Amino acid sequence: MCGIVGYIGYKKTKEILLDGLSELEYRGYDSAGIAVLQNHTFSIFKTVGKLVNLKQKTKSYHPEGFAVGIGHTRWATHGKPTELNAHPHLGENSYVVHNGIIENYVPLKHELQQKGVKFLSQTDTEVIVWLFESELKSSSTPFEAFKKTLSRLKGSYAILLVSKSREDTIFFAKGGSPLILGINNADEKYFASSDAPLISHCKDVVYLEDGDFGYVTPSEITLIGANGIQKMPSFKVLATDKLSAQKDGYRFFMEKEIYEQSDVIADTLLGRLKDTHIAFEELDKDFFKGINEIKLCACGTSYHCALAASYLFERYAKIKVSVEIASEFRYKKPLLFKDMLFIAISQSGETADTLESLKMAKNAGLKTLTVCNVDNSSMVRQSDAAIFTRAGIEKGVASTKAFATQMAVFWMLSIYLADKKHSLQKDEIQKHISLLREVPACVKVDEEMHEKITRLSKRYLHGHGFFYIGRDIFYPLALEGALKLKEISYLHAEGYPSGEMKHGPIALADPELFTIALLPNHMLYEKTKSNVEELSARDSTICVISPQQFKKADDFIQTKQTSHYMLEFFEMMVATQLLALEIAVRLGHDIDMPRNLAKSVTVE
Ligand code: M6R
Repeated sequence: MCGIVGYIGYKKTKEILLDGLSELEYRGYDSAGIAVLQNHTFSIFKTVGKLVNLKQKTKSYHPEGFAVGIGHTRWATHGKPTELNAHPHLGENSYVVHNGIIENYVPLKHELQQKGVKFLSQTDTEVIVWLFESELKSSSTPFEAFKKTLSRLKGSYAILLVSKSREDTIFFAKGGSPLILGINNADEKYFASSDAPLISHCKDVVYLEDGDFGYVTPSEITLIGANGIQKMPSFKVLATDKLSAQKDGYRFFMEKEIYEQSDVIADTLLGRLKDTHIAFEELDKDFFKGINEIKLCACGTSYHCALAASYLFERYAKIKVSVEIASEFRYKKPLLFKDMLFIAISQSGETADTLESLKMAKNAGLKTLTVCNVDNSSMVRQSDAAIFTRAGIEKGVASTKAFATQMAVFWMLSIYLADKKHSLQKDEIQKHISLLREVPACVKVDEEMHEKITRLSKRYLHGHGFFYIGRDIFYPLALEGALKLKEISYLHAEGYPSGEMKHGPIALADPELFTIALLPNHMLYEKTKSNVEELSARDSTICVISPQQFKKADDFIQTKQTSHYMLEFFEMMVATQLLALEIAVRLGHDIDMPRNLAKSVTVE
């Protein structure tokens, strides 16, 4: 989604801004721009499409010496991806970049238009800079004008604003969208909407909090908190491990991330699997005391993990679980009780709907836990406790290893809770621990299977849609398999519980409907098999993923014989990821940055 960078200093401002934006590229965007203020003059460049276009446009621009710069990658929400709508947006003498959505931009725009302002773009963002210009006329300082501007905005934002009215300064504000300030010893200041652009430049960073605003100059940081009182910036050392990811010889980040799953799951398990029990250092021993129900809340792939986790919690820990899509939960006025534990699941920790749901639960007095891949993310900072999935940076927009590690965490957590609640016998707990130890080996990509899937993929490039079907915990996996395919192949795919076919979906069955059937040995094999047969009888083209040969299938992807359905789950997960990848490769799509999608969805 949208990305922000900012820089004040003496180094190569253009390169710092463009490199910073490149680090944010994987998050998804459709236009980009930079504005540099130097010697009383703004240089501004904007382009539609990939950053390479912006790099081309700025090829002969080389600012030397002190400069103040801001940059942005935009994922269109208000107005099409055009140069005019790309950030930074200009007022009279100032430029702004903004992540988030200004919800009251329509009345603000009317008000400013009545004062004679001519808007150039269709964006909500442009009102910020014009409001600032307007407030500037009646304020004693530019900072006062900035403060007054912020007080008029409703919605979510991370904002950087530079102005000729105060040339050596970047004004900043955070309200709901992430923003980080970084410093080093060279009197430089950096801003970014996530860690990655800061890594090669700063050691010390401040993760700004909602309501924070202020300004920086080369020698000064002024930070005001949500209560309006000036505060000391609280610096943290920027963690640099696993943050910079390269493709390492793989064709795509997504492919690399599928192949990495074995290693990262080993990290997820590290120190948590003991001989006789499971340990989570992050949770104090009474964390689950007084908890009678769990509410799991997430979006997209993380929501599929939540659904899968609900099967594990109920089956092993015998606890009531409800699962919520965050964007629905926020507005349904849910019943919340103090004996509920609210668990937010998120790769990024910044997804706007999940973050707001977490805040709602917190405000209602619920205990909160975040299962997340990003240390210091907004959700981690908001919740009572956090468990890290340890997947390392995930660059492919289509989530793979983050899901895999989330699933490993929830398998462990359900057994951890089962142990606390004595709902499993000690020997059963030990059995799960041994099985969990097998997961890294089980998700190692089998080259033969990959090759087979590559060959098969050519038969699945047309048709009128895909059904992914499975039962029990293989139903959320079917949903996830379908989402993976949709995201990168742009083919229509749906996940269904296989028992639901006869209640409507089977009406679509014909040879041009492709069914991907998840048929594990150790979970309702016969029941699922009957459902697949029903589809086969209606001539749907069927690809079965199973350890057992299935005669009525058109195609067959064989998984290994294992001793438990969860091991089958992980292996089938890999098969569905590879199938989506190879179909999309044949269709010639952008695997890591699929159209219309963003890695971190920071608007609702
Ligand atoms: O960062 P989060 O896990 O909160 O993100 C939630 C979804 O936006 C995300 O899982 C999305 O569905 C992915 N593109 C799936 O591949």
